[in-house]
Amino acid sequence: VPPEIRQMVEAHELIRKFYHHLLVNTKDGQHALEYLLGRGFTLESIEKFQIGYALNSWDFVYKFLTKRNFEPEVLEKSGLIIKRERDGTYFDRFRDRIMFPIFDQKGNTIAFSGRSLGADEPKYLNSPETAIFNKSKILYNFHLARPSIRKLQQLILFEGFADCIAADRAGVENGVATMGTSLTAEHVSLIRRNTDAVTICYDSDNAGIEAAYRASSLLVEAGAQVRVAMMPDGLDPDDYIKKYGEAKFTKEIIGASMTLMSFKLVYFRRGKDLQNEGDRLQYIEKVLKEISQLDKAVERDHYLRQIANEFSLSLEALQEEQKQIYFSNK
Ligand code: UTP
Ligand code: MN
Ligand code: MN
Ligand code: MN
Ligand code: MN
Repeated sequence: VPPEIRQMVEAHELIRKFYHHLLVNTKDGQHALEYLLGRGFTLESIEKFQIGYALNSWDFVYKFLTKRNFEPEVLEKSGLIIKRERDGTYFDRFRDRIMFPIFDQKGNTIAFSGRSLGADEPKYLNSPETAIFNKSKILYNFHLARPSIRKLQQLILFEGFADCIAADRAGVENGVATMGTSLTAEHVSLIRRNTDAVTICYDSDNAGIEAAYRASSLLVEAGAQVRVAMMPDGLDPDDYIKKYGEAKFTKEIIGASMTLMSFKLVYFRRGKDLQNEGDRLQYIEKVLKEISQLDKAVERDHYLRQIANEFSLSLEALQEEQKQIYFSNK
C-alpha cells in the first residue's frame, strides 16, 4: 500500500473514532445525540455503525490531524479538508453534522456522509471521490452484512443509511444501501459474487419506485432473482419501522415482498387511469409483453389469469395475444 493511501485511511480511522466520541460522550455532541435518539436510533446501533458528530468548527479536523503530523495536502486529497482558492488555507468539509462512516470491505473507514441536523442543504454531505473512495463500488454496510448475506443467500437493498440501520435493529442484518446513487454494474457484480437473491426495498415514493425498476433490470440481467418489498403511503423503511414497529416490518414488508412481475404490475399502472379505455389497453399490452418474457409457463398462466380476472377479459383471448407476442419475440 502506498504511504499516501495508508495515511488517508489512517486519518479517516482516527477522525471516525473522534467523531464517535464527540457524539456519545460530550456536551458538544449532545444535541446531535438527542436528534438521533429522537428519530429512534438506539445507542446500540450508534455503536455498531460507529455514528459520530462533526463539531460546528471550520478547522477542528484540520488542527486535530495536522497536529498528528498528517500533511494538509494528503488530508485535502482524502476529502476531509478543502483548500481555499483565495489564500491557500484549509477548512473542514464537515461541520455540525451527524457523521456516518463508510467502510470498505475490510472494515477500513474510507469516507463519510454527514447529515445536517436542521434544514441545511444538502441533507447528506458526502466525501468526494478519492483514491480510497469510489462511490460506484461501495455499498453501505456491506462489510458488516456480508456474513449474513452469504449465510441467508439473500441480500436486501436499501436506499439510505437510516433505512439500513433501522432494518438492522429489526433483525434484518443482510441489508446494504446504495446511498442515493443508482445501482451500478460494479455494485451488481459485488452482489452477485455473494448471493443469487436480492430483495429491493427502496423508498416507496416516485423516485424510489423508478430507481427500484432500474435496479431490478440490472440485477435480472446479471442473473439474480429479484423481489421487491414496498411500504404503503410513500414511506421509506425507516419511516415505516418508526410508525408501525420492527415486527410488522420484517413480517409484512420484507416477509411479504412481491415477485418482480407483481411489482411490474404496480409499476406500469402508475400515472394511468385504468377506468379510461385507452390507458387500460396500453397497460394490458405492456403487461402482456412482460408476461411473455417469463420463463415458466405456469407463471405466465398465473399472471394471465390475474389480468383476465381484474379486467373481466376472456383468458383465452389474453392467452392468444400473449402467445403472438411471445413468438414474435423469439
Ligand atoms: P433520502 O432522501 O431518501 O434520505 O435519500 P433518507 O435516507 O430517507 O434520509 P433521512 O431519513 O431523512 O435521514 C436516500 C439516500 O440518498 C443519499 C443518502 O445516502 C440517503 O440516505 N443522499 C440523500 C445523499 O447522498 N445526499 C442527499 O442530499 C440526500
Ligand atoms: Mn463507542
Ligand atoms: Mn429517497
Ligand atoms: Mn428515504
Ligand atoms: Mn428516511
